[in-house]
Amino acid sequence: MTDPQQVLAQRVRLGLAAAFGPEHADDDPVIRPSQFADYQANVALPLGKRLGRPPREIAAELSHHLDVADLCLEPQISGPGFINLTLRDDWIAARASALLDEQRLGAQAPDDLAAGGSPQPGQPEKIVVDYSGPNVAKELHVGHLRATVVGDAVVRVLEHLGYQVIRAAHLGDWGTPFGMLIEHALEIGEQSTREQFNSGEFTGFYQAARAKFDADPAFAERSRQRVVSLQAGDEESLQVWRMLVGESMKYLRRLYDRLIITLTDADMDPESFYNPMLADVCDELESSGVATISDGALCAFPPGFTGRDGRPLPIILRKSNGGYGYSTTDVAAIRYRIRDLGARRIIYVVGSEQVLHLAMLFATARQAGWLTDEISAEHATIGLVTGPDGQRLKTRSGEQVKLSTLVEEAVERAEKVIADRYDNDAERHQIAEAVGIGALKYADLSVARDSSYALDFDRMLALTGNTGPYLQYATARIRSIFHKAELDPGNATAPILITEDAERAVALRLLGFAAVVRQVADTAEPHRLCGYLFDLASAFTTFYEKCPVLQADSSAVRNSRLALSALTLRVLLTGLGLLGVPVPDRM
Ligand code: ARG
Repeated sequence: MTDPQQVLAQRVRLGLAAAFGPEHADDDPVIRPSQFADYQANVALPLGKRLGRPPREIAAELSHHLDVADLCLEPQISGPGFINLTLRDDWIAARASALLDEQRLGAQAPDDLAAGGSPQPGQPEKIVVDYSGPNVAKELHVGHLRATVVGDAVVRVLEHLGYQVIRAAHLGDWGTPFGMLIEHALEIGEQSTREQFNSGEFTGFYQAARAKFDADPAFAERSRQRVVSLQAGDEESLQVWRMLVGESMKYLRRLYDRLIITLTDADMDPESFYNPMLADVCDELESSGVATISDGALCAFPPGFTGRDGRPLPIILRKSNGGYGYSTTDVAAIRYRIRDLGARRIIYVVGSEQVLHLAMLFATARQAGWLTDEISAEHATIGLVTGPDGQRLKTRSGEQVKLSTLVEEAVERAEKVIADRYDNDAERHQIAEAVGIGALKYADLSVARDSSYALDFDRMLALTGNTGPYLQYATARIRSIFHKAELDPGNATAPILITEDAERAVALRLLGFAAVVRQVADTAEPHRLCGYLFDLASAFTTFYEKCPVLQADSSAVRNSRLALSALTLRVLLTGLGLLGVPVPDRM
């Protein structure tokens, strides 16, 4: 365990037990970063209240029992009973130096000290992450950006920590629109259909089908018949349907690759996959009493959900005409993920407009006994991307802006930003691609995922502030130090020494990397990692301004500063890698 906050928390808990009895061994020590020291332990305030004693007295007694001499200066009591804790420079230096040997930075077990360094026994825990949420025959739009980018970062972080992650895009490939889509494809022919999809712009295909459906009653009737024959397994219908699915997957493949998203074809986990399970899921829920027939439809009424009229809200599992819907598929999917895949945790990275749907899904799964105290599901809510007016981002004609348009614009603008620095066209294109994609993804990741934000290309591409390009540039700058020194950063492994405040500030932040990675895994909130990396890069900038590296006074200090720089570079690269933000070699 290197995170100072965790080490201190553990020590303060030991102190609490020693001073006030073993029943306090699990009290929250309330460790917070402090303006007056590195941290302060504020537990004396709530504890004083509980014990009916003055907090300052509690603080004095606690600090008397604190065994922290190896890592802190003498604890100081301040204010109403805060205990100020200042880490010793030699402790910080030793822990930072130890990180240089770490193979997988940020993946240190949180309690390796307490557990004597032994790894968790047994199989790694399985986690399903349901993200991106694409649909067949529909282009990805701005609404998919966050569900895709945030989900992929969460997946990368969980894998880094050793979890077995199952990616699931839950591809929408089934349902009533496929009647009209198949009819339209048959009318315009296979070649023309494929061409439209291959062009990467096929919103017109869906719109044309919809327009015919709305305007031509005969077409609408044929479409309805087509849904029936598709669901009955008619070979011609299935063939056209497969073509639409296949073409859509090719399109998704291209866009995911360009956005550096780790979803593969095998992770598409399409809705139709669950079709054979739907009848059985309905049977199980009906016979266990979770679902009942209401107005001819099979419905679950999870407790705690009522409509405006006060009546219980249903999840419709089987319509009165025998048909199944989006909810049924999700109910089958959650059972499959738990029972067949063995998931212990399921994270749905899905827009906030599906809050009610997913809450009812989880409640039903709990009633069914699939979700338990040990097996959890959570909705990692995704907020809106808006225009400057704070409204959902739209094109002039009122449609959702396509994701591919955003990508193009980000890369084009990135190219302008860096234009004057590269004469070589190929190199400039390559760097602009990384800067543009990185800026777009980072801007999305750096905002708390459940709040909305206004898309702003100028701001996301700025070289200062909490942006992708700022962090990419920070890595390039560190690389150039090593380039100048004709050294490989991998060989900078000298012990880290602390001779200046600015070195101390960088080293202290480096110690917090594992804790923030763990937090991202626990909360599915990548913006915490962005905030951390920005803070680290800023501390490094100050260090670099104040402390000469290559011109340092002694070779021990020079080597220490090189090691500190190399470690910062590794943490930045690892962190950006966990976010899925590409980093150009130079900038
Ligand atoms: N395809 C869906 C949509 O466009 C999102 C799927 C989210 N995942 C899920 N298991 N429901 O709204």
